[in-house]
Amino acid sequence: MVKRIAVLTSGGDAPGMNAAIRSVVRTAIYNGFEVFGVERGFEGVINGQFALMQSHSVGGTIQHGGTILRTARSEAFKTPEGFETAISQLKERYIDYVVIIGGDGSMAGAMTLTEAGIETVTIPATIDNDMAGTEYTLGFDTALNTVLDATNKIRDTAASHERIAIIEVMGRSAGHIALMAGLAGGAEVILLPEKPVDIDAVCQGLIKSYKRGKLYSIVLVAEGIAKGYDIAEQIAERTTFKPHVTVLGYIQRGGSPSALDNITASRMGAVAVDTIIKGETNRLVAYQQGRIVTVPYDDVHNYKFGINPQVYELAGILSST
Ligand code: F6P
Repeated sequence: MVKRIAVLTSGGDAPGMNAAIRSVVRTAIYNGFEVFGVERGFEGVINGQFALMQSHSVGGTIQHGGTILRTARSEAFKTPEGFETAISQLKERYIDYVVIIGGDGSMAGAMTLTEAGIETVTIPATIDNDMAGTEYTLGFDTALNTVLDATNKIRDTAASHERIAIIEVMGRSAGHIALMAGLAGGAEVILLPEKPVDIDAVCQGLIKSYKRGKLYSIVLVAEGIAKGYDIAEQIAERTTFKPHVTVLGYIQRGGSPSALDNITASRMGAVAVDTIIKGETNRLVAYQQGRIVTVPYDDVHNYKFGINPQVYELAGILSST
């Protein structure tokens, strides 16, 4: 009997998800599997939203952001009834393996399926780059480039009007986007959840820099540490500056994927199918030290990749010297 793989995307969408779906579908068909696309993540598993995929089902999708399978953050899947329904839907369709493309929450969902005897593989995808087990998650590079582009544009206006521009970026409880975009864009101040904020020191730095002749500054604020508007208020209370705030929001999640995201997604999709063929399921496909590897779910937490303190220090030196 032909083995069956179901593929789904879950949690926040991320650029590169379509390339990952395409790669799973096409490498699986190439290797003799039948592939079903599940719409709306785990919610779609519960509701039986399965569709048989052909090679052409993923044609013309690689250049698009978002996910052609659509996605959801399923609360129903976390309930015993929802979970049982999901398992019966998979069993009724004789699904042998499920490939889950998503972030931490999605991998947690994959692990519960595994505990119930369904073999799974997770492909890491979230703009936040905050998953244990992997140094890279799909979508991060595209999001970074979007933030960099926005920062460069905002800088033009901030410089022309001699303003402090505060830019709030996503990242959930991690500061990867703020730190790396801050380094790439030369932000004068980078505020991260991983580093305590001393708002008085931030104000002193801005004043010092102004006195030195730098008439504008970019302050990048990770959403996990504060709201951009709150930081603006605190700066306005302590100085004569009147900061302008931009909350970048969903523009960071959308858009055509970068080359890095589509290349990594294509490779990770193929590795996910390969790990199924080898019988090494219940793993996260991961990027570690320049290689795409697979990590058993139980080992994932042995690899934590927080923000790089040297990069943080360097960003500070480059913007204040
Ligand atoms: O995980 C991706 C992300 O965009 C985070 O950066 C953000 O905190 C969260 O999702 C927002 O989620 P949503 O708007 O989908 O509820």
